[in-house]
Amino acid sequence: MKKTLLIILAIFIVMQFKQTDKTNKLVAQNLEIKAPENITVMLKNACYDCHSNEVKWPWYSNIAPFSWIIDSHVSNGRKSLNFSEWEDYTEEEKKKKLKEIFRTAYASMPLAGYIKFHKEADLTREQRTMIRMWTGVKK
Ligand code: HEC
Repeated sequence: MKKTLLIILAIFIVMQFKQTDKTNKLVAQNLEIKAPENITVMLKNACYDCHSNEVKWPWYSNIAPFSWIIDSHVSNGRKSLNFSEWEDYTEEEKKKKLKEIFRTAYASMPLAGYIKFHKEADLTREQRTMIRMWTGVKK
C-alpha cells in the first residue's frame, strides 16, 4: 500500500518536469477584433482564455496534468480562432469564422469543462443570442 502511494507520488513528481509554454504574444491593438462593448465583455469573459493572446493562466496551469490539458485547449483554440489577431484574417476567413461562432454559440462553446471553473463564462441563452446577432450571420 505504502509502496503504491510512493510510486504514484513519484510519477506525479516526474510529470511536473514536462512544463508547458504559457506565453502570450504581444497584442497589437489594431489587430484585435472590434465589437460593441457588450459583446467584447462577453468574448473576454468567455472566450479569450483559449482564443486570444490575453490568456489568464490559472494557478493550476502550473501543475501537470492540468497544465497539459490547458495547453492543448489554448493551442488548438488559438489555431482555430484568435480574437487578438482577427485583422490578420482575410475577408473570406472572417466570414467563415463568424459562421462558426454563430454555430458554436448555441452549441459547444465555451467548452463545458471550462465553464465549471469559470462562472463568468456561463453565458445565458440571451447572451448567446446577442453574440449570434452580432455575427450578422443569417440562418
Ligand atoms: C477552454 C477553452 C475554450 C474556450 C473558453 C472557448 N473555446 Fe472555442 N475552441 C476551443 C478549442 C480547443 C477549439 C478547437 C476545436 C476543438 O477542439 O473543438 C475551439 C474551437 C472554436 C471554434 C472553431 C469551430 C469549431 O467548432 O472547431 C469557434 C468558432 C469557437 N471555438 C468559438 C468560441 C467562442 C465564441 C467562445 C466563447 C463564447 C469560445 N470558443 C470559448 C477552446 C475554447
